Amino acid sequence: MLSMTPPMGWNSWNTFGNRINEQLIMETADAMVSTGLHAAGYEYVVIDDCWSKMRRENGKIVADPEKFPHGMKYVADYIHSKGLKFGMYSCAGVQTCYGAPGSFDHEFEDAQMFADFGVDFLKYDFCNKPATAHGPTLYNRMAMALRATGRDILFSACNWGSDNVGEWIRSTGAHMYRSTGDIKDNFVSCTDILLSQIKNFCYSAPGCWNDMDMLTVGMYGAGNVAFGGCTDEEYRTQFALWCLFQSPLMIGCDVRNMSPETLAILTDPELLRLPRDPEARPPFVVTDRNFWDNSPNPESTGRITFCKVLADNEYAIACVNFTDQDAVITPHFFDMGLTSHSGYALEMTDIRSGEVLPLCDDFVQIPVPTHAIRIFRSKLVRV
Ligand code: GLA
Repeated sequence: MLSMTPPMGWNSWNTFGNRINEQLIMETADAMVSTGLHAAGYEYVVIDDCWSKMRRENGKIVADPEKFPHGMKYVADYIHSKGLKFGMYSCAGVQTCYGAPGSFDHEFEDAQMFADFGVDFLKYDFCNKPATAHGPTLYNRMAMALRATGRDILFSACNWGSDNVGEWIRSTGAHMYRSTGDIKDNFVSCTDILLSQIKNFCYSAPGCWNDMDMLTVGMYGAGNVAFGGCTDEEYRTQFALWCLFQSPLMIGCDVRNMSPETLAILTDPELLRLPRDPEARPPFVVTDRNFWDNSPNPESTGRITFCKVLADNEYAIACVNFTDQDAVITPHFFDMGLTSHSGYALEMTDIRSGEVLPLCDDFVQIPVPTHAIRIFRSKLVRV
């Protein structure tokens, strides 16, 4: 079965947009292996929009001969020779978002073409569909067409959260689905996406994951979706949140030229344990207040604690400071279920520094710099 843990890989769109070609994709595959990204779990190399300009009269889409002079099978074979998997892109409409040919009413022949190329992953966008076409049916069609090929092709739906996608997408057979509009390379965009999805993570589980979009980690304001860029601390926060919420992890930067800090963030073994946790439970919000008072909802304060129940009776407790000032965040254990007369306390270990906090059974005060996150692996101990 595909997609039992959130898919991981690289996608061309965030940095390169229309500026893609065979050399870039092959060099990216090389870098995925030589940098250790593949060993860390990143396996799909995905070419997004703009790989084709036209569909021939015989019905076949042709690769842009200037960008991909040897055709797509050649690229697929190279990627496979590196031990990686190959992803491509099409669209449920008559044209892609960039104006290339889409797969509307060509689903079965296009699916077979992708299978013949050796494609292992298909991202399927939602632009330019006929006004009367029913969104769920379009995803059902391509999902069925992919299954008809007999090849294992991970189906990555991309309708940006429209038509209440979380409620039906799993039924189509899709393995991941975009739940928001396109990410931009700045911290506000990352925050907006995360906050918009807190309520939707009940619709994310093994086999079909809520995809909060490709990562911008390591872009530093350069590239196709660069709108300001982020600091390393902000990139670490983005990556940690995507891990905590078990979003697919599709790298969006130029992996041929990563900073050491970018590589360290993307391969952080403690953070990467979170999306692989076998229980796959969505985090819940812990209030930053005494249970009985009327302080504002933490989601509106920008200082939020999430608690994620992990396998082996552990808890990930994550304090995130979305505000522009350093803050102290005060999670109350009462709101996670721990009463002060229970005879238990939480032992919290900071996954970044290894620091173990003094045992606590009531509340804890966590200093969190602006735009940073602190995550504690925690377990109950008898007191
Ligand atoms: C849409 C998608 C993006 C990208 C572009 C390509 O905007 O949401 O992720 O695939 O199309 O044109």
